[in-house]
Amino acid sequence: MTQSPVRYDRQGAVGIVTVDSPPVNALSQAVRQGLWDRVTEGFIDPDVTALVIVGAGRTFIAGADIAEFIKGGMGEPDLNDVNDLIESGPKPVIAALHGTALGGGLEVALSCHYRVAVPKALVGLPEVKLGILPGGGGTQRLSRLVGAKTTIEMITSGAFIPAPKAQALGIIDHVGEGADPLAIALSFAASLPAGPHKRTRDREEGLAADRGSSVFDEARASLAKSARNQFAPQRCVDAVEAAFTLPFDEGLTRERELFMQCMAHDQAKALIHVFFAERAVTKIPDVPPSVTPRKIGQVAVLGSGTMGGGIAMNFVNAGIPVRLLDLDQAALDRGMGVIAKNYAGTVAKGKLAQAEMDKRLSLIQPTTDYADLADADLIVEAVFEDADVKAKVFRRLDEVAKQGAILASNTSTLDLDAIAANTGRPADVIGMHFFSPANVMKLLEVVRGKDTAPDVIATAMAVGKQIGKVSVLVGNCDGFVGNRMVQYYATEAQRLVIEGASIEQVDQAALEFGLAMGPFAMGDLAGLDVMAFIRARRVAAGLIYGTPLSDRIDPARKGQKNGRGWYRYEPGNRTPLPDPEVAAMIDAYRAERGITPRTFSSEEIGKRLIYSLVNEGAKILEEGMALRAGDIDIVYIYGYGFPAWRGGPMKFAELSGLDNVLADITRYHADAAAAGDADGGYWEPAPLLKRLVAEGKKGFG
Ligand code: COA
Ligand code: NAD
Repeated sequence: MTQSPVRYDRQGAVGIVTVDSPPVNALSQAVRQGLWDRVTEGFIDPDVTALVIVGAGRTFIAGADIAEFIKGGMGEPDLNDVNDLIESGPKPVIAALHGTALGGGLEVALSCHYRVAVPKALVGLPEVKLGILPGGGGTQRLSRLVGAKTTIEMITSGAFIPAPKAQALGIIDHVGEGADPLAIALSFAASLPAGPHKRTRDREEGLAADRGSSVFDEARASLAKSARNQFAPQRCVDAVEAAFTLPFDEGLTRERELFMQCMAHDQAKALIHVFFAERAVTKIPDVPPSVTPRKIGQVAVLGSGTMGGGIAMNFVNAGIPVRLLDLDQAALDRGMGVIAKNYAGTVAKGKLAQAEMDKRLSLIQPTTDYADLADADLIVEAVFEDADVKAKVFRRLDEVAKQGAILASNTSTLDLDAIAANTGRPADVIGMHFFSPANVMKLLEVVRGKDTAPDVIATAMAVGKQIGKVSVLVGNCDGFVGNRMVQYYATEAQRLVIEGASIEQVDQAALEFGLAMGPFAMGDLAGLDVMAFIRARRVAAGLIYGTPLSDRIDPARKGQKNGRGWYRYEPGNRTPLPDPEVAAMIDAYRAERGITPRTFSSEEIGKRLIYSLVNEGAKILEEGMALRAGDIDIVYIYGYGFPAWRGGPMKFAELSGLDNVLADITRYHADAAAAGDADGGYWEPAPLLKRLVAEGKKGFG
């Protein structure tokens, strides 16, 4: 018989039920069964008068076992039965919290008669982040303790609340001192009142004030905006409302119904995929955890422009000192000025203390002298995107950098191996591709060159985590993963306009799909001058990037930076406004080409935009430029504002049915060919997609 992950022992008159199921004591079937058995054992143990439930290792129970959700069929006993047993037994039960008491873990704690915690413990009901809601009585019991407003806020945000605040709200009864939850629980048990020990289900303090209140409708209206298109947040409100309109047991039944509706929804499948994909990106088959990252104490950044400045901020925000090098003092002064202005903005908003801003600025040492880079453990180059300039810089770095220093490039489009060839140490060269604004965007593409050493990869991934990025390892190809896909997406947006959609309609369809911004607004943000530059280079090489329509746009229209692009912008306002001048240019282009504009539905536009990403994603996957389809999804969610509840482009394709997606892609390819439109050449169906569909596979694996 396998050993139960839950054990029982006794200290004086207190029975101790310890959940020991690393890494996070998730409520697998074995843990639920163990809790059932050990709590029952405690209830019948004649020598104890109270029980404590505590977690072994780094945390209390951090939630339901999400892996079990995917497998389907959660198995007996149900969490609600375990909670009912705890709550309705003959002895008081104390939950002793440390680490994170989340989801089902907090629901177990809410079923206990008392909750105590170490000061650093966090509590929360983050199910909404997985597209579901608390299904173990959390919506009903928490409402009874803290009322509707706090319950809705906690459940629809999924926020983690520190123990002292949770105590002030009435969720936790006592926050002790130190780091030992059991010691706190035992001393609490020693002074336990005689009872009766009220069951949470019988408590009323949270209910009275909010019965019949408008808080539910207000929450629904506000979530309709802030969580547009999302299924679970609205169901969370419905479940909480049930606590105020139904008796406890009926409320539980309603909560379960709503939970099952969420579980059956594609959004839950998408978000659960994202949870695991985000953790899987750290796993690199030939760079196992046994590979020790190099120590990074001093960083240098080359180039104090748009990217270099933001990159430097990332490091000093994490307390890592940076030497910032640029060509001359004027460039450095400009760069440092922008950094200081950025921090000052955060201080003005009250989000950063002046002293902290000063400390961070003092960690940046501006320099024009390469000799100052000699002690850097990691050097990130962010100079002009020009192969000759980069070649010169890397040759110089090879002369001054100490042995073992990592030489990273932030290039967006250049060949990393060619850059590495300028040094005598290509194993130490890697790409660290940040996204603009570099101090804000969470994504970091870590680009592996053909010679990059495993410990250099491990270091770049670890440093990325240290500075708060989500790092994804990608291969060295034009555009890497994110930009390689987006160039076809942006091209497709133009093709749609050429065929008859308006710019606003295309962007609106992207927004309706859930993207943070449409492709034309994105172009204006990136800069139409930059895009024209890349188009010229790619077209000269016989590659696709945009269409002749983009050549027609007045070169003076650079995008947001000068208030005129595909849209026009009022001074100081980033809202894209339709521009008749651009519309007239499009009309003229169509007329010249003899195109009669046709109408499009949002759905058709959405499919063409997203499937252009999917088809290229499949090619990237097959070439091994991304390790997993989930890695591509994470790139899109953290780098391109792709809605997590759609799962990322690759998961979206799986949920849409790979066969359906392939059928559409094949049709788009045929349409482009029939129209003699070489700009739609990327619709050539990815061989991987064809193979998976032919084999009847439902996913990318
Ligand atoms: N079920 C199954 N596995 C879980 C899990 C859960 N509820 N929570 C975490 N894990 C796994 C992770 O997949 C990871 O596995 P891996 O090492 O094989 O990649 C491991 O536990 C550690 O998790 P990680 O997130 O890397 O650790 P962390 O210390 O950064 O964060 C938590 C810990 C608990 C805060 C975080 O994992 C979390 O938010 N978990 C989800 C909590 C939740 O949503 N609970 C409600 C579920 S209904
Ligand atoms: P930028 O023009 O804003 O800044 C470049 C800086 O490098 C300038 O301050 C310039 O003075 C300095 N510089 C030029 N040559 C130098 C040299 N030899 N030594 C030291 N400093 C030198 O450019 P940017 O937008 O910050 O781009 C920098 C790099 O980041 C490029 O490789 C670009 O492709 C990449 N990138 C840019 C973005 C973006 O959105 N801007 C996104 C990701 C990656």
